[in-house]
Amino acid sequence: MIKRPVIIDTDPGIDDALAIAIALFSEELDVKLITTVAGNVSLAHVTDNMLKLLQFWGKDIPVAAGAAKPLIEPLVDASNVHGVTGMEGYEFPEPKRELLVKEHAVNAMYRVIMESEEPITLVPIAPLTNIALLFSMYPEVKGKIKEVVLMGGSASRGNKGVMSEFNVATDPEAAKIVFDSGVPMVMAGLDVGWKALVYPEDSEKMLGMGKTGEMAYCLFKKYRGGSFSTGLKMYDSCAIAYLLCPELFTVEDTYVAIELAGSMTRGCTLVDLKHYLKQDANVKVCLDIDGEKFRKWFLEAVSRCI
Ligand code: BDR
Ligand code: CA
Repeated sequence: MIKRPVIIDTDPGIDDALAIAIALFSEELDVKLITTVAGNVSLAHVTDNMLKLLQFWGKDIPVAAGAAKPLIEPLVDASNVHGVTGMEGYEFPEPKRELLVKEHAVNAMYRVIMESEEPITLVPIAPLTNIALLFSMYPEVKGKIKEVVLMGGSASRGNKGVMSEFNVATDPEAAKIVFDSGVPMVMAGLDVGWKALVYPEDSEKMLGMGKTGEMAYCLFKKYRGGSFSTGLKMYDSCAIAYLLCPELFTVEDTYVAIELAGSMTRGCTLVDLKHYLKQDANVKVCLDIDGEKFRKWFLEAVSRCI
């Protein structure tokens, strides 16, 4: 089977860690490069976390560090959700620093995309700063990208503001550049993440699933994306689930605008299902997910990790 080449742009992040585990141990995906961006915590922490995860799994995937802050505004992180280091709760091995390439994430993405014979799928599960810089500096990559499958935005309400989701609202200018780019795009937003839940009995099962399951169990005890007892939200795994199991989702081709000006709605995704804005669709928006099937898929996917 020809594996689908992907680049994951991430800010690990507890839910990022699980999404990346599933991608790295799947038979369908070929993770060519992992890029990091400031988001859940600082660029230094998320890059270290990524290198620790790769050491933990024994996977030699190149990592390139990218933007240390959003395009315009200072970073307001999510350490309240993921802990001060971004992956609180587990004693990881030292980061595998040899995997850190010298290039900036944007240049590394450009090189990997241009060198690839197959069009690359970009999977951003973090603020969109690196992807916006890539499209602005190297617009020629757009023709070589199969699609962008991202976790971000919301077709309903928010988690950073009343209507805005963290990955989009952390860097709304970047999100606008990406959503307006013309590149085929899939949005797995916050509201599908709210239904992609892992319950205590699932976490208990994961404890017996090898070292990744055990690590996840420890991180989950600290993760504040939902609650351990009533269900933890696996936001970033939704983007990977879309790639590996799209039948879990109900999707609709829709025009999505990014609000930049709103004094209370800045950074929200206007999912124009009723066509008020009279624009052509630019995004395949995931409007629903089968939560029970997701749970089953997630546990099976984690059981395939070491
Ligand atoms: C997104 O924000 C981050 O905290 C998570 O890792 C996820 O990517 C959810 O809004
Ligand atoms: Ca993330």
